[in-house]
Amino acid sequence: MKPFQYTSMQAYEAAVEQANSQPEQFWSEIADHFVWRKKWDRVLDWNFTEPEISWFNGGQLNITENCIDRHLPTRADQVALVWEPNDPKEQAARYTYRELHMKVCEMANILKRNGVKKGDRVCLYMPMIPELSFAVLACARIGAIHSVVFAGFSANSLADRINDAACTVVITADAMNRGPKQMPVKRVVDEALETCPSVGCVIVVSRLGWPVMMHPQRDVWYHRELQFVESYCEPEVMDSEDMLFILYTSGSTGKPKGVVHTCGGYMVYAEYSFRNVFQYQDNDLYWCTADIGWITGHTYILYGPLLAGATTLMFEGVPTYPDPGRFWQVCDKHGVNVFYTAPTAIRSLMQSGIDHVLPYSLHSLKVLGSVGEPINEEAWHWYSTHVGKGRCPVVDTWWQTETGGIMISTLAGVTPMKPAHAGLPLPGIQPVLLDSDGKELQGNDVEGYLCVKFPWPSMIRTTYGDHERCRINYFATYLGYYFTGDGAKRDENGLYRIIGRVDDVINVSGHRFGTAEIENAINQNKAVVESAVVGYPHDIKGQGIYAYVICAEKPENEDWLRDEITETVVEQIGRIAKPDKIQFVSGLPKTRSGKIMRRILRKVAEGELSNLGDTSTLLDPNIVDEIVAGKQ
Ligand code: PRX
Repeated sequence: MKPFQYTSMQAYEAAVEQANSQPEQFWSEIADHFVWRKKWDRVLDWNFTEPEISWFNGGQLNITENCIDRHLPTRADQVALVWEPNDPKEQAARYTYRELHMKVCEMANILKRNGVKKGDRVCLYMPMIPELSFAVLACARIGAIHSVVFAGFSANSLADRINDAACTVVITADAMNRGPKQMPVKRVVDEALETCPSVGCVIVVSRLGWPVMMHPQRDVWYHRELQFVESYCEPEVMDSEDMLFILYTSGSTGKPKGVVHTCGGYMVYAEYSFRNVFQYQDNDLYWCTADIGWITGHTYILYGPLLAGATTLMFEGVPTYPDPGRFWQVCDKHGVNVFYTAPTAIRSLMQSGIDHVLPYSLHSLKVLGSVGEPINEEAWHWYSTHVGKGRCPVVDTWWQTETGGIMISTLAGVTPMKPAHAGLPLPGIQPVLLDSDGKELQGNDVEGYLCVKFPWPSMIRTTYGDHERCRINYFATYLGYYFTGDGAKRDENGLYRIIGRVDDVINVSGHRFGTAEIENAINQNKAVVESAVVGYPHDIKGQGIYAYVICAEKPENEDWLRDEITETVVEQIGRIAKPDKIQFVSGLPKTRSGKIMRRILRKVAEGELSNLGDTSTLLDPNIVDEIVAGKQ
C-alpha cells in the first residue's frame, strides 16, 4: 500500500492538515511515487482569474508507462482487465498486465501506421469491449489526445464532437450489444463523417461480425491491421501539461464543451483518489459499472485502477439483462470486492425487487460506491442492506467531468459515512459554500453554492478551442473560486450533502444535459415553433425531462407528434435524451423583457400547482392557467 493511502482517521486528519498548510510539499511527495522521465521544475502555478493552472510543470512522463510498464516487474501475470460480455453465456476475457501491455502497444502501432502523431485528436466511438480500453491507452501511449464519445449519442452529436476537436482518426466497431438488442455503430460513424472533413481514417473492430460498408480510402479493419504491427511501442515522452484527453460534457448554455485534462496532474490524482476512496488492497477485484464514454469510466475503470496495479472489470451489458440479477451474478461469478455504480441503477434494481438479489451470496463485496447524482436515503439503505449485507461501507462520491477525480466522499471505512451525504472532502480539496453575494459561509449547518477555492492536480485546464468559455463557465461567477454549478449543505459535523444543480443543467440517470441543448434539438422538428425544457423529480432516473412545446398549428394527433418530437431528439442528441413528458402549449410564461420564467414551468412539472408564486410580471398571466390545466 502506498503511503498516500490513508487508512485511519488520524492519518486522514494529518493529510488534510499538511495538504492545506503545505500543498506543494504534499502533492510533490505523492507525485514522487510515479515514474517520471524528468522531474518537474515547479509543483504548482495558478490563478483562477484567467484561469491558468499548471501542475508539475517541466516534468515529463507517459501515463501508460505508469499504468502498465511499471507494474511488469511485479505484476506481469496478474490480471489487469477482466471483461464480462453482455450475454452471460459468452465467455469472459482476461488480460494480464503483460497481455494488456502488448494489446496497447499493438493498437498504438496501428494508430501510428495510420498516420496518427503526438498531439493529434482521435475519436473513440465504441461499445464496451476490451479494444476500447486498448484504444484509450494506445492514444495516451503515443501522445495522441483521445476524445471518447459515448456510443449512445447520435450521428449529429458525434459529428459535432469530431468537428470541434478536428479529430483525424475515428476508432469504432461494426455493431454493439445492448441487452437483448443489437445496434449498428459503424453506420452511425458513416453518417457522422459525411460532415467531418478532418477524418482521414476509421479503424473498425469487429464485435458482432456484421457486414459493414468499408470506405476504400478511409476504413481499415483492426484485425487486419494487427498482422502488420509489432507488439512493442515505445511510450511517447509527454510534458506534464500536455493534453491527455478531451471529454465533452453539457453546460447550461450552447453546445457541449470539450473538457481538457492534462497528463501529469490527472495521473497523480487518479491513483490518489482511487486508492483512498475505495481503500483498494492488492488482489482486490474492482468493478465500476460506468461506460468508458463518461468521466467515471475514464478515471475509475481505466486510469485510476491501472495506475494502482489493480484488477479492473469492464462490463459490456446492462443491469437488467437477461434479468435484474445480472449485476449480482457478475459479482459472485468473478468475486468482486469493490463495486461502484450509479443511483439510477440502484433505484431501478430496487424496484425489480429483492428476489433478484437473494439468489446471490455477494460475500466477496467489501466496499460499495455510488456516483453521478444524489442518492436518496431509501436507495442508500437498500444498497447498504441488501447488497452490502450491512457490512460494506457505502461511499457516495461527488465529482464532475471537470474535476477529473472524486472530490468529496467518505473514504471507505476511514472517514464518517452518512446516508445521502458525500461526506468530507479528500485531503487537498478545499470546498467552500458561498451565499448569493459570493461570501463564504463559515461554520457548519449551512447551505450554499458549492465552489472550490484552491487548485487540485486533476482539475479542468481549459475547454477545447475556447478558453474564454472555460473562464466564464467556471471562474467568472464567483471571482477567485472554481464554481461547480451545484448547491450543497454542510451538516453540523462538516459532512457535505449535494443538493443538485443550481444552473440550467439537468441530471437524468446520471447523464448531464443542458436544458438549452434539448430545446435546440426539439426545435429542429418542423412543427415546433418554440420549446422550454425543465427537469422534474423522477423515481428511477433522479430527474426526468419535461418539455413544453409550442407548435405552429394545433397538433391534430398529439401522441403522434410527441413520438415525432422524441424521434427528433434521438436524431439530434441520442436515445439518452428522450423527453419523458411533452406538453403542448400555446405560449410560455414570459416576462415583459421576453425571459421565460422557468420557476413556474418547474413547479408545474413537479406537480406543485397551488403555489406558483408571483406571476404579476408576466406578459400574459393567463398562460399559466392553461399550462396548469394541461399538465402531463
Ligand atoms: O450535479 C452533480 C452530479 O453530477 C454532476 C457532474 O456530472 P458529470 O460531469 O457528468 O460527472 C458525473 C460523474 C462524476 C455534478 O455537478 N453528481 C455527481 N456525483 C454526485 C452528484 N450529485 C450528488 N451526489 C453525487 N455523488
